Amino acid sequence: MIDVSKLAVPGSIEETLLDKIDLKRLPRHVAVIMDGNGRWARARSLPRVEGHRAGITSVRETVETAARLELGVMTLYAFSVENWKRPRIEVMTLMMLLKEYLRKELATLMENNIRFTPIGRIDGLDPTVQRELRYAEEKTAGNSGLLFQIALNYGGRAEIVDTCNRIMNLLREKEMSDAVIDEAFFSDHLYTANVEDPDLLIRTSGELRVSNFLLWQIAYAEIHVTKTLWPDFRRRHLFEAIIDFQARERRYGAVEPAEEREMFVEAEDGS
Ligand code: IPE
Ligand code: IPE
Ligand code: MG
Repeated sequence: MIDVSKLAVPGSIEETLLDKIDLKRLPRHVAVIMDGNGRWARARSLPRVEGHRAGITSVRETVETAARLELGVMTLYAFSVENWKRPRIEVMTLMMLLKEYLRKELATLMENNIRFTPIGRIDGLDPTVQRELRYAEEKTAGNSGLLFQIALNYGGRAEIVDTCNRIMNLLREKEMSDAVIDEAFFSDHLYTANVEDPDLLIRTSGELRVSNFLLWQIAYAEIHVTKTLWPDFRRRHLFEAIIDFQARERRYGAVEPAEEREMFVEAEDGS
């Protein structure tokens, strides 16, 4: 049971927003492109890395809110395969902040029954980062609440190519090289095997692009873009995204059921 008292204090903006949410129709998987840290810092005449540091508070609050809403999965895009193009000092600081976050937040993840797992080309990360990731993953493996996926050294195209290679190796090993695969089989070999596709994709800082994130999995995700920069993103912004999501009509290429019934009646009337 969702404990609403843990999501909003009486009389707050959060409470007004929470009232507008149908708790029975929540998205099961929310994915977030956390963007705008650099702009947040620049607006304050601070170095870019200060934006990344401030973004940790947003990560903490977003993940905790997702757990309290009893969502199934939250996936956060933290570092793309393209982000290696950034200055070395920025990359190093990002990795250091990640290690610091994992060390500090492990207790909170445990308290909230959150299972943590990284997705991406993890073996391409520094061994010290890999060690922290493995530790957090192992410690939280038995938790049964929210699945918190963090995308690191992640690229959607890289994932699709890695999946193709994984499948080819598998079929070669089993001497089934001429087998024909289908979408379900392909999905089952992605980094996100066994995880349902995102229902809602949020991008902060106003950019209207997907920047190589979960390309296969977002085929039918609803997209919510907010101008809010990631370090300013709080619980109320997640609530706003969910309200927006619940106002959408998801069709998956079909027609709306009501419209289909109308067409049926019209056909029976001979009109
Ligand atoms: C997102 O913020 C964090 C990462 C991509 C790691 P940015 O660093 O991209 O911030 P902007 O887009 O330059 O404002
Ligand atoms: C996307 O943000 C990657 C992450 C949030 C990790 P970027 O800031 O790297 O994306 P672009 O360069 O604006 O497309
Ligand atoms: Mg950016």
